[in-house]
Amino acid sequence: MDKIKITGGNRLNGKIQVSGAKNAALPLMAASLLTDDTLKLSNVPYLADIVTMANLLAQHGVDISFSSSSQQYGKNMSLRADNIHNFTAPYELVRTMRASVLVLGALLARFGQAKVSLPGGCAIGTRPIDLHLKALEQMGAHIELAEGYVHAHTHGRLKGADITFEKVSVGATENILMAASLADGVTILRNAAREPEVCDLAHCLQKMGAQIEGIGTDTIRITGVKKLSGCDHSVISDRIEAGSFAAAVAITGGEVELLGARAEHMQAVIEKFTEAGISISETERGIKITSDGKIECIDIITQPYPGFPTDMQAQMMALLCVADGASMITETIFENRYMHVPELARMGAKIVVHGASAMIRSADELVGAEVMATDLRASLSLVIAALAAKGETIIHRVYHLDRGYERLEEKLSACGAQIERMHDKPNRPFSMPEAA
Ligand code: EPU
Repeated sequence: MDKIKITGGNRLNGKIQVSGAKNAALPLMAASLLTDDTLKLSNVPYLADIVTMANLLAQHGVDISFSSSSQQYGKNMSLRADNIHNFTAPYELVRTMRASVLVLGALLARFGQAKVSLPGGCAIGTRPIDLHLKALEQMGAHIELAEGYVHAHTHGRLKGADITFEKVSVGATENILMAASLADGVTILRNAAREPEVCDLAHCLQKMGAQIEGIGTDTIRITGVKKLSGCDHSVISDRIEAGSFAAAVAITGGEVELLGARAEHMQAVIEKFTEAGISISETERGIKITSDGKIECIDIITQPYPGFPTDMQAQMMALLCVADGASMITETIFENRYMHVPELARMGAKIVVHGASAMIRSADELVGAEVMATDLRASLSLVIAALAAKGETIIHRVYHLDRGYERLEEKLSACGAQIERMHDKPNRPFSMPEAA
């Protein structure tokens, strides 16, 4: 397994190109199942999760090709689902990536059948899919759970329904948006997720011929159509990657322009950086972060969009470890998203967790150590802490990072960070000493 070695203490200066958003690209790829025409996506980040989704769609029968883009990062992708012959999303793929469950709504709406492995829990929480299933049942789907799989079918087309989600769910909103686009009649989604990634999917579906109103609000109205067509669509830039780099600059000090970052998608995050004394301004090509490395303590509560994103919680915690005074973070979306805390503590952080809240007291300095990445965003919190820490940090299990950050070492080292990937040598075979 690869490791990352970071020697802390360097300021970051320069420009970083922000990649396309992983969490927008994944549902967009699943939307290819809704039509037998070609869906052409550009600005697709080239990441492990994107490859997993491509493998999943390919085994359903989607013809997929990647091609180089004229941009520095990302790929163009062409997806054509005119020969779907397999309606099963198998356990081996779903267990490695929960977003696989996004094929359910599209398969069911277009082919009237789908068998999708239950994703099970994951490192950050139990993450059930009950909201997805309940909504599909309201639309007339017959759903059974057996042998770890969701078996779903419909007699004829799905029917439009008035659906109120008990909880805001990004994935459930996306799954039902896709299903409702090809359903018979009108579907209303209440308490829908408003994340920019949900809006990006809805805009692409509109280009494919879907009739959707209320995009970006918590009430979305979809009038089903009989057929959707292909389209060209460029994936929005990744607000979480941009926020992660902003936290890195904030902690090291320096000035970095994040090209392609969209301030309008990052308001809650920008407000918190500003409150912490970090200057963020909009530029013609993105946003610019300027920091002298001095950070004020702040309190953060994670919320669905437009609130502060849970996907930025771990990175902000790393930053607040060296803030002046005590900060409080409350995580309201996932029940187990503090696994970075013991790892940050190995670097000298002073954090106490009580239930959903964490109190972060000022550590005079962070010191490099060997640490382990436990999930995607936790791995970035360790990178951020390491960039400011005294000495050398080795981060193990960086495959988590490769799921969501495109060429991270290249982007950070171009701005002055001392960061390198180390490829593990295979273990030497164990041999017993010869008996005397
Ligand atoms: N939930 C339920 N039942 C459901 C669905 C969700 O109880 O049927 C709960 C979840 O357990 C969680 C909350 O509702 O407590 C919100 O979950 P949501 O469905 O919104 O999350 P998701 O769609 O599974 C996406 C992102 C996550 C991000 C969350 C929240 C993708 C591929 N993933 O997950 O991204 O944290 O929304 O914003 O879009 C990441 O990128 O690191 C990541 C984990």
